[in-house]
Amino acid sequence: MNGIFDQIEQHHLELLRSLSQSLADKTTETDLLGHLLRELIKLTGAEVGAFFSWDQETQSATLQSVLQSHSNSAAEPSFSQSVLNQVAETGTAVLSFDTNSDDRYSKQRSVILNNIQAILAFPLLNRQSIYGILYLDSRVQRGQFTEASRQFLTLFSPIASLALEQILDRVKIENENRLLRAERDENPIVPGMIGSSPAMKKMQKMIVKVARTEASVLITGENGTGKDLVARAIHQLSLRADMPYFAQYIGSIPPTILDSELFGHMKGTFTGALQDRPGLFEAMDGGTLFLDEIGDLSPELQTKLLRVLQNKEIKRLGENTIRKVDVRILAATNHDLTELIRDGKFRQDLYYRLNVVKIQVPPLRERAEDIPALVNHFLKDEPVSAISRQALRRLMQYSWPGNVRELENILKRAVIMAANQQIELDDLSFENVLQNPAASLAEATLEEIKQYFIRERLDRFNGNKSQTARSLDISLRSLQQKCSEEGWT
Ligand SMILES: Nc1ncnc2c1ncn2[C@@H]1O[C@H](COP(=O)(O)OP(=O)(O)OP(=O)(O)O)[C@@H](O)[C@H]1O
Ligand SMILES: [Mg+2]
Repeated sequence: MNGIFDQIEQHHLELLRSLSQSLADKTTETDLLGHLLRELIKLTGAEVGAFFSWDQETQSATLQSVLQSHSNSAAEPSFSQSVLNQVAETGTAVLSFDTNSDDRYSKQRSVILNNIQAILAFPLLNRQSIYGILYLDSRVQRGQFTEASRQFLTLFSPIASLALEQILDRVKIENENRLLRAERDENPIVPGMIGSSPAMKKMQKMIVKVARTEASVLITGENGTGKDLVARAIHQLSLRADMPYFAQYIGSIPPTILDSELFGHMKGTFTGALQDRPGLFEAMDGGTLFLDEIGDLSPELQTKLLRVLQNKEIKRLGENTIRKVDVRILAATNHDLTELIRDGKFRQDLYYRLNVVKIQVPPLRERAEDIPALVNHFLKDEPVSAISRQALRRLMQYSWPGNVRELENILKRAVIMAANQQIELDDLSFENVLQNPAASLAEATLEEIKQYFIRERLDRFNGNKSQTARSLDISLRSLQQKCSEEGWT
């Protein structure tokens, strides 16, 4: 063999080997390029090393990073455009002794003589096209810039390119994965319903499946888990999607009013019934009616509802005419209906009719892995949309008695509290009292009710414990004890 190898000194081959090895563990482009510049400066005695990215379209080089061996070199490094162009054109290493690269020097002869610029530059390729140019420049040690070092870089260039290519490929794959993941989280199986935990995926598949049928669906789940959202999703994914949808709250509405709301009434049936009026069942003909808190339905209305489900028939209040209706019924409850049946408060036959398919919405504490996506979702249109790592971790550890609604509320408050562009741990306030006392007092434990009233009284007296104790007619000592137990100091 003669040619290139003859001209390459033995130590260059050794260098080639060690340099190639040192590239293997670099994981980012910055790491790799930094390492290359440092090693090549050491190797060639260059004073300046630089990396230029190359734009194929405009055929121009842009300086990305510079490394100077002597930090005291006063002169701004200058770069030869013609060398850069030459490397890009030929795709090989270029050695140049360039005196014309910088106007400041070319004007003074003596300076020129002392400052003949020696340049070694070689290309980095990505998939066979020029990605960038590594550029080494020396005035002092220019004697080391020889044809042999050019040959060396010609050999080294494809090795460095390969290392770069690997990094760029990995970054590309990682970005694609990230995009796919974001897309998956933002485009869940059920539109508008965030959550890709196994429990949520299972539920979403169930929703899609059941939506296409005409079956009645009973949706169960704790407060704020997303039962309303599920009902609306079932309607939107159903063949009735273009027909009307209505959510009627059942809990604590007086039976007569609810009766008239649902079934309509005849003029004069009760005071204020000034004319005949169709109810929701008639208005919703062809559509979907969501009955929320079905456990609160009165015995009479349970019977009337059963009739709708069995015969698709209704009678307006005070009327004897039977009317046919075609309404799909979805119902929700956060009570255990079987318990109500046992206590004789809910008809078993109605339960079976409603419960053709049951969808259980999992509580948030059982799917903490959904929390980051939910946080993103709730913050995306807020003025503060970032959250610190610690704050997110806290959200993922919390027990969420109020489920997704509580998360939404805590984030809303945090956005207001946030001093900077990011929600911090301190901006989160978890109140271990009832979130919505009016709605949930009925289900609260005695301990929760006690907590709630003590907290409220403390607030009213601005945290003054003596006044609070006096107003609650308990001793200051027992209030203090309670406060320290609950961590309210
Ligand atoms: N998976 C989810 N993705 C996005 N938002 C959700 C999700 N689950 C719930 N939400 C939001 O959380 C809030 C509470 O949900 P929803 O009203 O459906 O709960 P609920 O179970 O009906 O509560 P309640 O028992 O109090 O009636 C709503 O603003 C809803 O949009
Ligand atoms: Mg609801």
